[in-house]
Amino acid sequence: MNVLLLGSGGREHAIAWKISQSNKLTNLFIAPGNAGTILHGTNVELKLNDFNAIKQFVVDMSIEIIIVGPEQPLVDGLYDFIKNDNETKDVFVVGMSKHAAQLEGSKDFAKTFMTKYNIPTAAYKTFTKFQIADGHKFLNSLNAPYVLKADGLAGGKGVLIINDLQEAKDSLSDMLVGNKFGIASEQVVIEEYLSGIELSVFILTDGKDYVILPEAKDYKRVGEGETGLNTGGMGSISPVPFADASFMKKVEDRIIKPTVEGIAKEGFEYNGFVFIGLMNVDGNPFVIEYNVRMGDPETESVIPRIKSDLLDVFIVMKNNGLSNVKLEIDKNYVASVMLVSGGYPQKYATGKIITGLDKVSDSVIFHAGTTLVDEGDVLTNGGRVLTVTSAATSLKGALDKCYQQIQNIEFENQYYRSDLGFDLL
Ligand code: AMP
Ligand code: GLY
Repeated sequence: MNVLLLGSGGREHAIAWKISQSNKLTNLFIAPGNAGTILHGTNVELKLNDFNAIKQFVVDMSIEIIIVGPEQPLVDGLYDFIKNDNETKDVFVVGMSKHAAQLEGSKDFAKTFMTKYNIPTAAYKTFTKFQIADGHKFLNSLNAPYVLKADGLAGGKGVLIINDLQEAKDSLSDMLVGNKFGIASEQVVIEEYLSGIELSVFILTDGKDYVILPEAKDYKRVGEGETGLNTGGMGSISPVPFADASFMKKVEDRIIKPTVEGIAKEGFEYNGFVFIGLMNVDGNPFVIEYNVRMGDPETESVIPRIKSDLLDVFIVMKNNGLSNVKLEIDKNYVASVMLVSGGYPQKYATGKIITGLDKVSDSVIFHAGTTLVDEGDVLTNGGRVLTVTSAATSLKGALDKCYQQIQNIEFENQYYRSDLGFDLL
């Protein structure tokens, strides 16, 4: 089987690492990939918004499965583009139609879907620039803090959580008429604040049946104790101690089943992941958001716990759907600590030589923002540089191993959070 994996982050390195272990694999191509994905396949320079170039590569290399890592190509319609072309219509795309990808691409679309299928979520209303007065009225009816969300994709920055009512009203105007997030905030979802602890739940669905992947928790803030600016993620752990069998049964009954039923009833073309970001509010799960992809850095801790051959799962899904697929999951704990460039998520330098990668043992390194140069050096190439990922029989054991192994790795101005799991241990 020839596979094309799209993306260049830690998520894609983890998926490439896993797929490359399958004896069903012939060739793996990663576009554009990073210095880590090269270890498991061939990096190719394709732009993820150049659908024609992707299609031509798929034809030339006899690709049979495309795995789409990030959301943007799905929201932009890559799935439909491949399916609607005579030369590529039989290629299996791990993804979903542009219409279905609105589950992530439009907060209003997702909230309407959740309401229709009785899926627990925060109370909300959606406003356009012609409804600012109504927006103020709705804000008056809520208690602080106020949650304002740009409807469209805003690079993970489109959610504002504001304590002051007047500031919330001003921000609503900034978003709707001040162009704060461009066209992403032409509509704004205002919703009730949910207080609790967050959990990332993942399923793979063919739009009819589903399998549940290991759950994870990510640490989003840059500072220790979950303080400071939001980042793309400073690390993750899996499994999550509070997500025990009884909590996960509530998640499956109240959220996963109605979500998949909704996907089926709406007739969405779906052959991909649903990442359910949820809040545990006093033992009850509420959906904060859907994503149509795996999480990053959750994937780096989720994938190593999947014992089944993931490529084989995709192949079975391609041929017969998921009705008879069972995932074998490792009970061990996996932790991933993200090493970032100092300054991230604001200004940071790139191009710094990373040393000591070969000294790491008993752990896996998943590259995120790295690049390989001709001399063989691996350089930093982004804010989030790589994860050190370790497994053990306890959460503390997995984290201890990560922190031990990190000592081997050096690059200028390296930073990481040394308190992952602080809230759970
Ligand atoms: P999102 O982009 O929807 O994931 O939102 C970003 C982050 O904002 C989430 O991970 C939560 O931490 C927080 N958030 C979003 N919606 C709510 C809500 N209704 N109540 C509390 N926190 C929220
Ligand atoms: N870790 C959160 C995300 O991937 O959106």
